[in-house]
Amino acid sequence: MEIFKISGQNALTGDVTLHGAKNSALPILCAAILIKGTCTIHNCPDLRDVRTTIKILESLGCKVNRHGDTVTVNSAEITDSQIDENVMRTMRSSILFLGSLVSRMGCASIYLPGGCDIGTRPVDMHIHALKSLGAVIRENGSSITCCADKLTGAKIILPFASVGATENIMIAAAISKGRTTIVNPAREPEICDLAEFLNKCGARIYGAGESTVEIEGVESLHPCEHRIIPDRILASTYMSACAITGGEITIHDVRPTHLAPVFPVFNEMGCRLYLDRDKLRMDAPKRLKRVKMIKTMPFPAFPTDSQSPVTAALTVAKGTSVIKENIFENRFRFVNQLNRFGSDVTVDEQMAVINGVKSLHGADVYATDLRGGAALVVAGLAAQGETIVRAIHHIDRGYARLEENLKALGADIKRIKDEEVTEKENNEGKPNICP
Ligand code: UD1
Repeated sequence: MEIFKISGQNALTGDVTLHGAKNSALPILCAAILIKGTCTIHNCPDLRDVRTTIKILESLGCKVNRHGDTVTVNSAEITDSQIDENVMRTMRSSILFLGSLVSRMGCASIYLPGGCDIGTRPVDMHIHALKSLGAVIRENGSSITCCADKLTGAKIILPFASVGATENIMIAAAISKGRTTIVNPAREPEICDLAEFLNKCGARIYGAGESTVEIEGVESLHPCEHRIIPDRILASTYMSACAITGGEITIHDVRPTHLAPVFPVFNEMGCRLYLDRDKLRMDAPKRLKRVKMIKTMPFPAFPTDSQSPVTAALTVAKGTSVIKENIFENRFRFVNQLNRFGSDVTVDEQMAVINGVKSLHGADVYATDLRGGAALVVAGLAAQGETIVRAIHHIDRGYARLEENLKALGADIKRIKDEEVTEKENNEGKPNICP
């Protein structure tokens, strides 16, 4: 077991470059199964969820190689259409293999992702969509088998703009008979990135990022080369770390339109932001200002994944901030841990009220989930004294070498092996399935 040890109160300064977006890399790797050849994917972050996805691809017969941040996936031969239960249970996004495998192999067998500490997170929309495309689905306890001779286009109305369901439909319908229409699709930048990848391979997907997506099914796809978009959630994590430490940093390889929903929040906190094409320079005031109200919603509104690090930053703002979480019901679970730093955050159902305190003190905490874990690191960077963050395997799922990048910005943070793993970590920091 590894932990982060942080000695807080260093203002972050300097330059940092974003790595590729986890939430783009995962669906694009899943989609690579559709292509009988070798796809080359650049800017593919080397983080735990990507490694798990690569393991799944290899278990299905794909040949995968990584050179630096470039990954090649050769799916010429797929030898299996079942995903191991244990791997499936560690990562919810493996549900995306259902669409790609049924399209490529005619049948797919997967286990349902289990419960998650940030909400119940059902997969009903995925199942309903695949059925609409003509797949026959059999559920057997916690496993699902999905079969179709040939998927056929359909009109699918999503009751909620689910990112994963939109991706699954785009992947499954890319090679199909006829036209598929998704009404109320998710519009996240990662959806557009997946559509761009598939279109480079010969798919005909129109309207990604808009309120209706049309997919003209094609007979087959061909290999392509693609560069994954930079990780906007990583950007908002660095921004939160800069804000809470009163720092001054420049983030490279940002896509301003992807970050547009978070800029007003940092402005309201009193941070100054300067954009120069793909460079974002920011400086933070000595004391942050409160933010009246943040509501998480699907893109183009404030992202739920940025909520946790921003909550951490607001703990030391002057005044009271309010955050309403509208996507995942348990996304404030990390707040119990956060308050160990001396913050004053109360949660009532989906609403957090953050009464800003003057300063935080170091704490011994455990990550409850990926983004909640990152929030604890953000708090530790500003806290007086030493902080230990445990169960950091959650953080490693979505951040590649977070501690090295923060260290390069002047933070005092180390990854160390914890010889004495406490009972608490064993019991409470157990792996779960989170976004
Ligand atoms: C993706 C992201 C995650 C992000 C989330 C919302 C990946 C790998 N993960 O997760 O980081 O926080 O989008 O931006 O890209 N829902 C159902 N039934 C379904 C599917 C979803 O009820 O069949 C619900 C979920 O429980 C949740 C909401 O819809 O309350 C949004 O989920 P969704 O957009 O599907 O998130 P993910 O794709 O799992």
